[in-house]
Amino acid sequence: MDDLKEKYLGQIAEATDENALEAVRLAAVGKKGEVALKMRELGKMTPEERQVAGPALNALKDEINSALAAKKAALGDAALDERLRSEWLDVTLPTRPRGQGSIHPISQASEELTAIFAEMGFSVAEGPRVDTDWYNFDALNIPGHHPARAEMDTFYMHRAEGDDRPPHVLRTHTSPVQIRSMEKMGAPLRIICPGGVYRADYDQTHTPMFHQVEGLALDENISMANLKWVLEEFVKSFFEVESVDLRFRASHFPFTEPSAEVDIRCSWDNGQLKIGEGDDWMEILGSGMVHPKVIAAGGIDPEKYQGFAFGIGIDRLAMLKYGIPDLRAFFDSDLRWLRHYGFSCLDVPTLHGGLSR
Ligand code: PHE
Repeated sequence: MDDLKEKYLGQIAEATDENALEAVRLAAVGKKGEVALKMRELGKMTPEERQVAGPALNALKDEINSALAAKKAALGDAALDERLRSEWLDVTLPTRPRGQGSIHPISQASEELTAIFAEMGFSVAEGPRVDTDWYNFDALNIPGHHPARAEMDTFYMHRAEGDDRPPHVLRTHTSPVQIRSMEKMGAPLRIICPGGVYRADYDQTHTPMFHQVEGLALDENISMANLKWVLEEFVKSFFEVESVDLRFRASHFPFTEPSAEVDIRCSWDNGQLKIGEGDDWMEILGSGMVHPKVIAAGGIDPEKYQGFAFGIGIDRLAMLKYGIPDLRAFFDSDLRWLRHYGFSCLDVPTLHGGLSR
């Protein structure tokens, strides 16, 4: 029995992992292990012999079992120590500065203007960029023969041969969302819709895809004065200044009557665009009192409700606010440009926190 004890305690001490230890356990105290075989021999012994051998075998079994348990715990600790030694991470290291994207100035401007209009009680509406010509034109009081259709440099979608339904268009403005919002929500109504629009045009201040934010307010008692106040308030908040030099110009849109376009004073000295100084004016929006035919096309009674609408060029607002002289660069995906003009993704624009710090 002393031999057995010495043999197995030695093997336990030498086991270097849990598999080896399990093999020792099976050979020693498993069901068919050496100690179990010895126990079976107890039956053939005389009662006197059994009285000595029985307790001794049990004691041996206990001793081996506790040596196994102790070794198992030690192996576990060693494995944990090894993992702690090899798997570590310095959480105080700085992050990689280049691994971070930035917010595009148009996204930034959209977030900023949404925060401002939300404060004035406007909610955000949406509509499709590919729309029917009814929503883009007819419902907005622009019938088929109207020159405005040609003026807008519309992109028409292709129709299969023999399909003579009128073509879909890439929306030329966000105004179709006026109609969709009236249909969906009725009156009274106060919405804005920021989004992409398309016209075949290309120079320093025009790109074939650009962005507008539509605004529409309908109620029983809305006047042109409300429109002017909302626009002035918006422009001051957006440019984060006490006053801005604005020019309201009488204009014409088929879907508003009367209509006004608004320009902001700016200068373009040496390719630098600056707001609020100089002798140049940049047109940033069209607006007016919604035409009764448009209100009726939206399914609302124009005898009861009237209101104002506007469409502001988001890209131009961003050019003016951040001093970016060429609109085309917005869509070049030039990483150096994006890093220079981009905004931190963690600075969410709010009125209380500051729009564009
Ligand atoms: N939809 C017009 C445009 O794109 C802007 C506008 C919107 C004018 C709403 C008046 C009212 O030019």
